[in-house]
Amino acid sequence: MNPMNQFDLVVIGAGPGGYAAAIRAAQLGLKVACVELEDALGGTCLRVGCIPSKALLESSELFHAAQHDLAQHGVKTSGVELDLAQMLRRKDEIVRMLTGGIAGLFKKNKITRHLGHGRLDGPGRVVVKNGKGESVLETKNVLIASGSKSAPLRGVEVDGDRIGTSTEALSYPAVPGHLAVIGAGFIGLELGSVWQRLGAKVTVLEYLDRILPGLDLEVAKEAQKMLAKQGLEFRLKSKVTSAKVVGDECVVECEGAEAVHCDRVLLAVGRIPNTDGLNLESVGVQTDNRGRITVNEHFETGAPGVYAIGDVIAGPMLAHKATEEGIACVEYLATGYGHVNYLTIPGVVYTHPEIATVGQSEEQLKEAGIEYRKGAFPFQANGRARALGSIEGRVKILADKATDRILGVHIIGPRAGDLIAEAVAAMEFGASAEDLMRTCHAHPTLSEAVHEAALAVDGRTIHI
Ligand code: NAI
Repeated sequence: MNPMNQFDLVVIGAGPGGYAAAIRAAQLGLKVACVELEDALGGTCLRVGCIPSKALLESSELFHAAQHDLAQHGVKTSGVELDLAQMLRRKDEIVRMLTGGIAGLFKKNKITRHLGHGRLDGPGRVVVKNGKGESVLETKNVLIASGSKSAPLRGVEVDGDRIGTSTEALSYPAVPGHLAVIGAGFIGLELGSVWQRLGAKVTVLEYLDRILPGLDLEVAKEAQKMLAKQGLEFRLKSKVTSAKVVGDECVVECEGAEAVHCDRVLLAVGRIPNTDGLNLESVGVQTDNRGRITVNEHFETGAPGVYAIGDVIAGPMLAHKATEEGIACVEYLATGYGHVNYLTIPGVVYTHPEIATVGQSEEQLKEAGIEYRKGAFPFQANGRARALGSIEGRVKILADKATDRILGVHIIGPRAGDLIAEAVAAMEFGASAEDLMRTCHAHPTLSEAVHEAALAVDGRTIHI
């Protein structure tokens, strides 16, 4: 075997889990290769997920603000026009820069990159297949970080054009007159918001009687109210039975309700692990009943030297969760120690305002029979929020009734995605609400709302 094709670790997939693991492993002295099907590194998140959607969220928010929000600041605008082609070009350029950045990091860390589809081929072997043929890599260890793909829905005929997934919704060539979104989860609300702000009528069809399942219910309800006020139409308890292109329109049928006639359909009912063609059987890697690779606490599959992390295993399908796991996995491999604290993985929905959460919801605490105290503080009583002109929402802190330890923090409001970092750090250090309450927060900042929510746990807010 060509020594050029012998490695300590072969990572399959260059998403936020795989590329971070590859870099960390190289830092720790391992000889690393990374196999990736796409030309651009960075996975779904960088190419067709987190990053391009945030670019469009920022741009569409500015477009919306220029039309509706600037007048309150005494800034008059007229003749505001949308240049969608430029908006999409800017998004593509951001993606190009960031994916190129990963390629640079691979070079810097001497990670060998293999373009093609990787599959296991018995112990210690990975076969890479691309247009030029197949090559074999020999390796002591394999890390499967192949991510996830959009879940299909029976009766919904995805054509990759009018009826598509988040990938298509990042590049519609024109603003749809009417967009139907199936699923009121992270993707449906973020991309639904983008096109609604750009002028589309957006109807969100959700199977459950609430949006954002899994999130703290009170926060989710508040989010629904705010988004509805912005113009998103919600049809809860809607079971979609089919979506088809009929002539020059799309028709979405729902059980027991009127069909929706629209121009485009975005299917966003979750994602499923991507294990296509990995040949897991060749080494005896097991999957569970949802197709997720089964691993132990060290990310080891049942096959010696084969590990898996990120969306392809259980847990929230979030880029930063995959990154944490990838790093912990290779640190374990190289040093015998690596750890992820699943109690402090934040989640952020980048709507306007943002929704951010860490730890347990009130529903989860009630179900577990854990007694808690709750402190909440509204942004309308925060000076900086007033100055920003963004006063909707609140911070809610849940602390153990007996010990005061922070168990969950849920924020809906301006820059919630950044504010949650303080809560995550506090929880990582096992902080009590009193610890936060005795921490000095700069004035005037949005973070004072977190401080006041901590004070509210003990019933002693200053500003309400
Ligand atoms: P999701 O799991 O967040 O939401 C899917 C929604 O579809 C749920 O509300 C579910 O009840 C609904 N649904 C399921 N079947 C349905 C049906 N037949 N008819 C109508 N509604 C139905 O999944 P989503 O939004 O597709 O996102 C996929 C993954 O990507 C999630 O795990 C999410 O965490 C992640 N993601 C994270 C983002 C972030 O961190 N900001 C942004 C976008 C995605």
